[in-house]
Amino acid sequence: MLSNTPFEPTDDDLSWLLGQDNFDSLLFIEADKVRQRIYGRRVYLRGLIEFTNYCKNNCLYCGLRTGNHRVSRYRLSKEEILSCCREGYDLGYRTFVLQGGEDPFYTDEVMIDIISAIHTAFPDCAITLSIGEKSYDSYKAFFDAGARRYLLRHETADEDHYRKLHPASMSLDNRKKCLFALKEIGYQVGSGFMVGSPYQTMENIITDIRFLQELKPDMIGIGPFITQHDTPFSAFPNGSVELTLRLIAVLRLMFPYALIPATTALGTLESEGRELGLKAGANVVMPNLSPVGVRKKYAIYDDKICTGEKSAQCRFCLQRRVCNAGYEFSLDVGDAKRPEKSEK
Ligand code: 5AD
Ligand code: SF4
Ligand code: FES
Repeated sequence: MLSNTPFEPTDDDLSWLLGQDNFDSLLFIEADKVRQRIYGRRVYLRGLIEFTNYCKNNCLYCGLRTGNHRVSRYRLSKEEILSCCREGYDLGYRTFVLQGGEDPFYTDEVMIDIISAIHTAFPDCAITLSIGEKSYDSYKAFFDAGARRYLLRHETADEDHYRKLHPASMSLDNRKKCLFALKEIGYQVGSGFMVGSPYQTMENIITDIRFLQELKPDMIGIGPFITQHDTPFSAFPNGSVELTLRLIAVLRLMFPYALIPATTALGTLESEGRELGLKAGANVVMPNLSPVGVRKKYAIYDDKICTGEKSAQCRFCLQRRVCNAGYEFSLDVGDAKRPEKSEK
């Protein structure tokens, strides 16, 4: 495999490669080479602030779905969010990811106020939003207030599969529309999907990869599906760590410039899951910066790690993990590189 031309597999190549377990070491070595060519050994750090666990949606896989009355709900105030940023800043973070359910309490006006306040207080930091589907105008207003990155996983790019994971009020079309709007506005966009979500087939995964090729995101987040006991999918098994790692490697080969996180979900299913993710080609980690008192309540799936730890603990834990895995822990703002900028 030539490591300086992106890998362009056919559907048959993909289903064959993703179904094999005997070439993993080779696949991971090739993916690591590609990552090193573009990003070196650097692993970027993003501070994740889970600021509301209210959500108006009812995704069947997620513990924050509106139909789950067993989760205790919380919202962080602007001051609480800013104090998380301050703590994060002092710990070296230069990217803040504001993640939450689709919570109508945070109107555009409220969000703009929060984003502007962070942007003013920490002008050298990148603000990433992960707050779901909004209108073009809302996305534009958040951008104008200082947000520069947006994470919105497409979850599945197959219509039928999408309908099995979501209530009728949600649509894949709208999800895609949002992603293209975000790109048009100028955000660095992240998308992705769960691996092993209920009813997912290999064909679905290939459709996901083809959609990513169409979208050309700057960031790609994938993680295994993990059962949440208070959802309609409580009887479905967890997704496979092995397949997730293989997919990270294939995505790295196909999208050499992408920022790919080694996700908390991977670390939840396997104690060294995030380290394995890095070795398979991931180059971002997103430690939790939320106040310890609310962490357990952000229960999107069962047994989530880092819910009892303080921000400083996660920060230093991840530094140790990244270094032990043989990588450099980078505190840079870490924008996505693009071919025209970095190809000499
Ligand atoms: N298991 C794994 N990931 C999940 N997400 C939501 N529910 C689960 C689950 N049960 C993911 C979705 C969402 C992201 C914030 O968390 O992909 O986009
Ligand atoms: Fe809400 Fe996101 Fe959970 Fe869906 S996945 S219920 S949109 S928090
Ligand atoms: Fe949170 Fe290790 S990253 S405790």
